[in-house]
Amino acid sequence: MSTLIINGSPRGKNGNTEIFIRQFLSGAGEEYPVRYAVKEDPETLAEMLRQYDTLLIFMPLYVHAMPGIVMKLFEQMRPCGEGQKIGFVVQAGFIEGAQARFLVRYLDQFAGRLGYENLGTVTNGDAAGTSMLPEFMNRKRFKHLNALGAGFAGKGQFDREAAALLAGIYELTPQKVKMLEAMNKIGVSHIMWKKFWRDNGQLEHGLDRPFQPDSFG
Ligand SMILES: Cc1cc2nc3c(=O)[nH]c(=O)nc-3n(C[C@H](O)[C@H](O)[C@H](O)COP(=O)(O)O)c2cc1C
Repeated sequence: MSTLIINGSPRGKNGNTEIFIRQFLSGAGEEYPVRYAVKEDPETLAEMLRQYDTLLIFMPLYVHAMPGIVMKLFEQMRPCGEGQKIGFVVQAGFIEGAQARFLVRYLDQFAGRLGYENLGTVTNGDAAGTSMLPEFMNRKRFKHLNALGAGFAGKGQFDREAAALLAGIYELTPQKVKMLEAMNKIGVSHIMWKKFWRDNGQLEHGLDRPFQPDSFG
């Protein structure tokens, strides 16, 4: 069975999507080839996909949707060959899986219309800090990604239990919202981001409005 992984992140090897792929591969114990949508011509890449039995497309959620580079690739893809399979892994910044609900429906339609056997879409929220968090804070997420990879290598499917654990919360309960609001008020939820902005000399620019008409002088 030949499998190809597509990294659909505009940040390519520097993004969280890449970390997800590496954890998946580590669990799979396989070195499936990885292609980077950001670096490739969509038409050439779409043609090349036809050589593989299974395509796994990893991407970040951008504004409730897929990144534009993934859309460009999809626009070049044609109905699949005999028995080809496709699966998707979407990771996102916000906690709620519901953030990706429109994309998940789109991906189901897309796979079906091109005739692929659809392995489904695995989602994982609260992932924006993955590349910045210390190892121990990513441990649970990585364990589930390893299990997802191992399940795929063993059965050619996404392991249901690992997918459910990655999916996490679909919609926050009112109590959880209150708790997060309180954390926001006392600033706990900003500690990591503020450090990141400070380290990059951007902390004082947090409220800039570069596209306001009066910013153009
Ligand atoms: C332009 C942009 C739009 C985003 N939109 C969403 C969104 O609608 N919902 C969400 O949960 N996360 C959103 N995020 C967060 C990303 O999904 C998250 O940071 C992800 O881990 C980025 O992966 P990458 O490093 O591979 O690009 C957005 C991030 C960016 C940069």
